Amino acid sequence: MTSEPVDPDLASRRLAHEALEQDDPTGWFERLYSAASEGAAVLPWDRGAAHPLLLDWVATAEPHGAGQRALVVGAGTGWDAELVADQGYDTTAFDISPSAVETAERNHPDSKATYQVADLLNPPAEWHRAFDLVVEIYTVQALPIPLQPEATAHVADFVRPGGTLVVIAAARDDNTPDSSVDGPPWPLTRAAIHAFTTPDLKLIQLERTPSPNDPTLHRWRAEYLRD
Ligand SMILES: C[S@@+](CC[C@H](N)C(=O)[O-])C[C@H]1O[C@@H](n2cnc3c(N)ncnc32)[C@H](O)[C@@H]1O
Repeated sequence: MTSEPVDPDLASRRLAHEALEQDDPTGWFERLYSAASEGAAVLPWDRGAAHPLLLDWVATAEPHGAGQRALVVGAGTGWDAELVADQGYDTTAFDISPSAVETAERNHPDSKATYQVADLLNPPAEWHRAFDLVVEIYTVQALPIPLQPEATAHVADFVRPGGTLVVIAAARDDNTPDSSVDGPPWPLTRAAIHAFTTPDLKLIQLERTPSPNDPTLHRWRAEYLRD
């Protein structure tokens, strides 16, 4: 019997579909990270570096994080959290998967960031309006569409008055119906990007750029500011 390499996207989608069938929409992340840490799977989203759109935001905005707190949502293997911590922020990075947290800590043994397990759908109460910078990359879109409004509201709630939220997500045309999206991921419509706003959390910049790997796919980078 010969074994053939498995497409990492297909492998993760299979795990996701099994979890969704068991009404456990987030259970597959731990299974995937755990398999990846044993070399038995590949994380399709692991870039081995910070997201280029976050790198570009840092280069342009030149944030000064000294004395400020940052939160990185669904931090995965930690590359974005490291970039944020390198800007001087007191950085907390969380993920629902304990194996993701272990992998991030292993990847970054000298990290200034604090990695912890937490659930975006049930976050610690003390994170309410507690962070000067919140970074969300590809977590909301990894959740089934019915869960996205709740996840979006929690992300927005982490931002303290005067604070900034940066969201990077795959883009979906507004006229593509939810029912035709076979996630994960479930990319975000323009309306879903606007859903991070509240009366005091305003969208101040929105860009839609083609993916370098596939120019037919687009990504959002959105920046919000809380009054
Ligand atoms: C598509 S991956 C993106 C990871 C990372 N942000 C990146 O861009 O490389 C989605 C991440 O969100 C995490 N995640 C999914 N649901 C979550 C939840 N409810 N709370 C916290 N993390 C979650 C997953 O474990 C995974 O690391």
